[in-house]
Amino acid sequence: MTRGNRRVPLVAWALALGGVMLAGSSSGGQSPAAVQQAVDKAYAEYKALKEGKNADYIPALAKVDPNLFGIAVVTADGKVHSAGDIKTEVSIQSISKVFTMAQVIQEQGLESVEKQIGVDATGARFNSIIAVEGVRTVVGTGAPEMNPLVNPGAISATSMVKGASADDVWKKIIGLHNDAAGRQLTVLQDVYKSESDTNQRNQAIGALMLAYGYIKNNWQQAVDLYTRQCSIGVNAQDLATMAATLAFGGKNPVTGKQVLDASRVPGVLAVMATAGLYDDSGKWLYHTGLPAKSGVGGGIIAVSPGKFGIAVVSPPLDDAGNSVRAQRAITAISNTLGGNPYIPTGLKGSNP
Ligand code: DON
Repeated sequence: MTRGNRRVPLVAWALALGGVMLAGSSSGGQSPAAVQQAVDKAYAEYKALKEGKNADYIPALAKVDPNLFGIAVVTADGKVHSAGDIKTEVSIQSISKVFTMAQVIQEQGLESVEKQIGVDATGARFNSIIAVEGVRTVVGTGAPEMNPLVNPGAISATSMVKGASADDVWKKIIGLHNDAAGRQLTVLQDVYKSESDTNQRNQAIGALMLAYGYIKNNWQQAVDLYTRQCSIGVNAQDLATMAATLAFGGKNPVTGKQVLDASRVPGVLAVMATAGLYDDSGKWLYHTGLPAKSGVGGGIIAVSPGKFGIAVVSPPLDDAGNSVRAQRAITAISNTLGGNPYIPTGLKGSNP
C-alpha cells in the first residue's frame, strides 16, 4: 500500500466524524439539548423578575402585558429553541432600525450610511435633539458623528431608501423585515396610530435633519414611514430568526433564503455593537460581546456570528430604554453557550 492509498480511509474517517459532530452541534459546538437547557434555565431564573417599567411615551405601549416573557434561539440548522410566550406580538420599535439600515447598505453600499449618517455612537439618549445639534457643524466637512440606530439617524436612513412613492419605499422596508423573519409581518395599527398621534419629537428631529442637510427630501414621509416600521408586529420567534439571519451571513437559516449580501452584514453588526443599546452599548458589549438591538416594545435581538441568533421579548424597560429581563436572559444564555465572539474558540474564557 502506498502512502497515498493509506490516506483514503483516514480522510473518509475524518469526514464521517465531522458529519457526526455537525449533526450533534447546532450552535458552534453546543448540542441542541445544551441550547434548550440554557434557554430553560434562564427562563426559570428570570420569570419572576419584576424590575423595569413599560414605555409609556407611546400610549399604546403602556397597555401591553408587562408579564409577557418569551425567549427564542435560532441555530445554524434553522432549529428554534424556546421558552415562554414566543407567539404574542409586540411592536418591533427600534429593532426595525437595523433592517432599514441594512436595506440602505444593501442597495447603496456600506459607504452611503457612513457618509450621510455616520457610524459613531452619540453617547446620548436615542431621541436626543442635542445629538443632532452636536454633529451639525461637521456636515460637508466629513462623516457626521451619528448612526442609523438613534432616532435622527434612523429617520435619515428611512429617507434614503429609494422608491418612486411612499408605497415603493414601504414595500422594500417591510420586504426585508419579512424575509429576515421568514413570514409576512403586519403593522399593529393601534401602535401606529398611537405613535403617529404623539410623535411630535420625531417630527421635530425630521425637520431638523432636513434643515441641516442629513435628510435630502420629504422629511414628513420619512417620519411617517419610520413610525410605520416601528409599529410592525413581531414575536420572539420572528426576532430570533431575524437575528439568526444576521448571524449566518445574511442567510435566513429557517427558510434558506439569502436575504442580504454576506459582505454587507459585518457593517450592520458593527453599528449594532457600538450603538444597539444606546448609551448602555458599552456596558452590554463588555458583558456579552454581542452585537444587539433593543426596542421600546420590549424586544432585544442579539447576534453570535456563525453560532446563533437570540431574541427575548419582555416589555418592562430600564432607564436607557432597554428591556431588563431581555438583557439578563440573553447575557446568561449566550455566556453559557460560549456566544461571546471575543473569546477565542476552544478557550473556556469567562465574561466580565
Ligand atoms: O421613535 C421612537 O421613539 C420609537 N418608535 C422607537 C424608540 C425605541 O425603540 C428605542 N429603543 N430602545
